[in-house]
Amino acid sequence: MEKIVLPDIKDLHLIDVYIKNNGFNAVKKALLQKPDDIIDQVKRSGLRGRGGAAFSTGLKWSFMPKTTDKPKYLCVNGDESEPGSFKDRQIFEYNPHQLIEGILITCYAIGAKTAYVYIRGEYHKWIKLFQKALDDAYSQGYVGKGMKTKFQTDFFCDIYVHKGAGAYICGEESSLMNSLEGKRGYPRVKPPFPAQFGLWGCPTTINNVETITNVPAIINNGWEWFSKIGEPKHPGTILYGISGHVNKPGVYELPSGMLLTDLIYNYAGGVPGNKKILCVIPGGSSMPPLRGDKIEGVKMDAESLKAVGTSIGTGGIIVMDEDTDLVKVLARIAKFYYHESCGQCTPCREGTGWMLKILNRILNNEGSSKDLDLLISVASNIEGNTICALGEAAAWPVKFMVQRFRDYFEKRVSPEVLIPVANKVHSMRHTAFPIADIKE
Ligand SMILES: Cc1cc2nc3c(=O)[nH]c(=O)nc-3n(C[C@H](O)[C@H](O)[C@H](O)COP(=O)(O)O)c2cc1C
Ligand code: SF4
Repeated sequence: MEKIVLPDIKDLHLIDVYIKNNGFNAVKKALLQKPDDIIDQVKRSGLRGRGGAAFSTGLKWSFMPKTTDKPKYLCVNGDESEPGSFKDRQIFEYNPHQLIEGILITCYAIGAKTAYVYIRGEYHKWIKLFQKALDDAYSQGYVGKGMKTKFQTDFFCDIYVHKGAGAYICGEESSLMNSLEGKRGYPRVKPPFPAQFGLWGCPTTINNVETITNVPAIINNGWEWFSKIGEPKHPGTILYGISGHVNKPGVYELPSGMLLTDLIYNYAGGVPGNKKILCVIPGGSSMPPLRGDKIEGVKMDAESLKAVGTSIGTGGIIVMDEDTDLVKVLARIAKFYYHESCGQCTPCREGTGWMLKILNRILNNEGSSKDLDLLISVASNIEGNTICALGEAAAWPVKFMVQRFRDYFEKRVSPEVLIPVANKVHSMRHTAFPIADIKE
């Protein structure tokens, strides 16, 4: 299978090698067409965002206003802080020029002259590598004012690298823009959406690194070609990042719609010691987990995963074998979201802490079966009641893990015992088990 985003070409990260392999021909081709025709091709290709929500890329671009006296911006999201996701850094390392070329085409299509690549602060190595590639592209006239001579065009575009400062929430698009503006990384209330009121109040498009890296291939090979790869409703390849209890963890570029079992057993080499799979999270830690005994026949694309009650997310597959302590895993995930909540909305700020307290109580063998209902209730009250989707990201793993593994969790808690006190009935949970402090 042909690879689009991470082709097997030695030293492709070097600009000369990239150019020898048809590099920057797509932007040349794009600049000869009308911006709207580029948007149309990307729309028809069926490309959907690889940053989590799988939204149509071409449709998102078409929301940018055609006439405005304000500058327009592109933000490229390389924050990649979701536990279980480690694919965008592969692009920074192995194919940075295709990302740069994708940025140039995107900017041309949406009418932006400035792009910011927001990279996770901990990615020191990848920030350096990408900056080096960008400097090389600038020095050869492929980016910036040099484009005018290089491509004999009036269009030019500048690209800046922005280093994050270690907050997961800055991957959320509106928070990313606040962070870029030098403000605290608080998500904004939507509407207005970024295409109307984005960076510095100007029309802005935000796309994931992998999404943008697909664009040159679509322009070079045509939208029909792209639309025929993988699942028709979510075409193209996906960078599946497989981690956890597998023999060969790593990033595998394969068509969308691969069988989850095929990815785990044939590509990632199966489970060490041939143990059974207890649980799989298919798209990064915020996505609803699947039971290991329910993954047969499950396909990895947005629509197929939706049909089985989960989501493609970032394509980060976390495999857990039968000896995994799921309570410990869930408590760890809950601790992450509690720590990363920006604190703006009450359900998320308080709810993430409550879920962590309850999970720690269960972990300390002090939980009762009522705690399981309480966890689901707290999670359900976060979901849909917050400014940004970190609320869902925190709620879903808890809600669905407890619902789907109820039998497992029941074994870790004592049955709810009701004891009469002074003619009243109190739950033991409230009398005998104090809420454990959150342990950092
Ligand atoms: C809490 C939170 C964290 C996110 N982190 C990232 C991230 O690290 N990278 C990313 O591309 N998208 C992330 N997103 C999704 C972005 O808000 C946005 O939808 C995405 O960058 C759009 O790009 P796409 O359409 O190409 O997928 C995050 C969303 C939320 C709610
Ligand atoms: S949902 Fe959480 S992270 Fe998002 S704005 Fe509200 S408090 Fe902040």
